[in-house]
Amino acid sequence: MKPTVYITRKVPDEIIQRIEEHCVILMWEKEDMAVPRDELEKEIQEVDGLFCLLTDSIDHSLLEKAKRLKVISNMAVGYNNIDIEAAKLKGITVTNTPGVLTETTADLTFALLMATARRLIESSRYLSNGEWQTWSPMQLTGQDVYGATIGIIGMGRIGAALLKRAQGFDMKILYHNRSRKLDLEKNFSMTYVELDQLLKESDYVCIMTPYTPDTKNLIGAKELALMKSNAILINTARGGIVNEDALYSALQSGQIWAAGLDVFEEEPVALNHPLLTLPNVVTLPHIGSASIKTRLQMAHLATDNLLLALNNQTPKHVVV
Ligand code: GLV
Ligand code: GLV
Repeated sequence: MKPTVYITRKVPDEIIQRIEEHCVILMWEKEDMAVPRDELEKEIQEVDGLFCLLTDSIDHSLLEKAKRLKVISNMAVGYNNIDIEAAKLKGITVTNTPGVLTETTADLTFALLMATARRLIESSRYLSNGEWQTWSPMQLTGQDVYGATIGIIGMGRIGAALLKRAQGFDMKILYHNRSRKLDLEKNFSMTYVELDQLLKESDYVCIMTPYTPDTKNLIGAKELALMKSNAILINTARGGIVNEDALYSALQSGQIWAAGLDVFEEEPVALNHPLLTLPNVVTLPHIGSASIKTRLQMAHLATDNLLLALNNQTPKHVVV
């Protein structure tokens, strides 16, 4: 008998075709709306595999309802949406999609850094609003990127890809990570520093760590207070790593200069969220990995992982 798989969102046809060859598919058919909790609770009961997204909260109480689930395949590198311990206790394999999105996410991170530094969104709006009367010496002036100091917090795959882009802009590179990356230090001009020093010296602070209990609120009022008044904070990792109330205060008071955010504590972020009211914040709807090629590669890798686990083989990327 073919295993049954629940897919929590409409995925591209080529993905459905691949899974269909080996499995019976049940799917939440909408593209722009996450599966409601009650629906997920109902569907998870009798399936062998789950293909899910970072918008789905796969928590303890949900997993309690699963009677024969073998694998949770998350189409994302981050897996903070899944209760890993609960899955492990139930003997459920959890997989993710690292690697394929590394360069795409580093591109977006650098794009957001530049857009924030040079006020691209604000400037474009200025033009389209008809405010552009004349060229003027200090009009819409921002911060330089070339030759500035970048502080990268988290030197995993994406951090390392970001560092290469920073090197191309002759930036001074500081990084902080749980462990030193001596292999990278050999090949790139970069300096390992404690978090406080990174915050004190960087013109750009980029968050590149996974979201875990250890990194929750890693950047709060105390950390923001160490940053320079011209500093820019970039977060393309996960919202909860930066305390949003503290960030709002620091941006509003001019303690730091600007922020570029692709991720939020709650997604989608509410339109009346205080951070969206500030002119010195550039916001994006969690599009770090959103290139056509990369999203398809992520979906295919999630499919590989799912099918391998259902076939009792070791998936390519196992979390637990
Ligand atoms: C995106 O945020 C991912 O974790 O893949
Ligand atoms: C994290 O897993 C990364 O790819 O940086």
